[in-house]
Amino acid sequence: MLILGLESSCDETAAAVVEDGRAVRSNVVASQHELHAEYGGVVPEVASRAHLERLTPVVEAALRDAGVGFGELDAVAVGNRPGLIGSLVVGVSAAKALAWSLGVPLIGVDHVEAHLYAPLLDTELAEREVYPALGLVISGGHTSLYRVDSPTALVRLGATIDDAVGEAYDKAAVMLDAGYPGGPSLDRLAQTGDPTAHDLPRPMLGKASLDFSFSGLKTALLYKVRGKPVGRGAESRFEQSAADLNESERTDLAASFQAAVMDTVERKLQRALMGLQEEGVQIKTLLAGGGVTANSELRRRLPAFGERHGLRVGVPPMAYCVDNAAMIAGLASHRLHSGETDGLDLPVFSTTRE
Ligand code: KG4
Ligand code: ZN
Repeated sequence: MLILGLESSCDETAAAVVEDGRAVRSNVVASQHELHAEYGGVVPEVASRAHLERLTPVVEAALRDAGVGFGELDAVAVGNRPGLIGSLVVGVSAAKALAWSLGVPLIGVDHVEAHLYAPLLDTELAEREVYPALGLVISGGHTSLYRVDSPTALVRLGATIDDAVGEAYDKAAVMLDAGYPGGPSLDRLAQTGDPTAHDLPRPMLGKASLDFSFSGLKTALLYKVRGKPVGRGAESRFEQSAADLNESERTDLAASFQAAVMDTVERKLQRALMGLQEEGVQIKTLLAGGGVTANSELRRRLPAFGERHGLRVGVPPMAYCVDNAAMIAGLASHRLHSGETDGLDLPVFSTTRE
């Protein structure tokens, strides 16, 4: 069974062909980083227009790479939530047109659920070996923990109450003048720094909370970089800037920030796992997904966490960490198997499924 997946929720235009829900036959991603770099963040209107220009060549490349013709497709899948509405509409409209003209089912997929399916791509793991799993979605838009009972049955245990980790990385990178896109640049900067140089907050939000908060950490970093603001209200200003830091001060701050984020994530994972075990849920796997799973420190810590707790760990290969359409097409095969297809009135939503 061959499914074409489309993904256009943010600033990546992507198409992929996946066979039988697992084997990735092609995975094409056109990133728009260069278009948004001068603004230091994604500009929704620019993103929608770029999706429109890039989608057709990206779909053609995905079919060509897979050696598959349109007539061989069994279904067309598309990420229809969550994301930027104007961006989602481009992918969803294209998917509807393709499904209608080919006479095959259309399948809308939740992008967050798809991130947690990414670790299963290109593996032959049987579902009974994987689920129930503890899921960590860590990206530019989300930082959430889930109990995952099957690829499409997720119960959210906690989520960020302010910034997502990827967003915090992107903002920290701006503060430290690390370059755009921020996540990978800050990760690189942190490699040569001392993670113990600065004691930054690791917000736990109370004894039992599985939620996250990164805005306080962000502010703590800002004050380390620029000093405490002087003056009040509209008159307040910083007396220092990132340009006043030498290289080792910058790398130490980046490494200390990274350590604070990852310690927090790891403690919450541990807390969630303990809570599930107390409820009698025998978690088999830790599944992680989302752009921040490309982070070198997280990729070092998650397998060690799994080893300590006797869990199999599913961290996607780098190509399936950031937004991609292979995860969309893969997850869609499950929805197709259970007869969950969509009509041509498939809507788009800015939020994930609750
Ligand atoms: O999953 P994704 O491509 O888009 C969303 O669904 O949000 O994630 C993008 C996020 C960005 O915030 C980016 O800075 C972050 O993932 N990211 C990283 C790294 N690579 C990407 N964050 C930390 N370290 C990285 N190596
Ligand atoms: Zn994503």
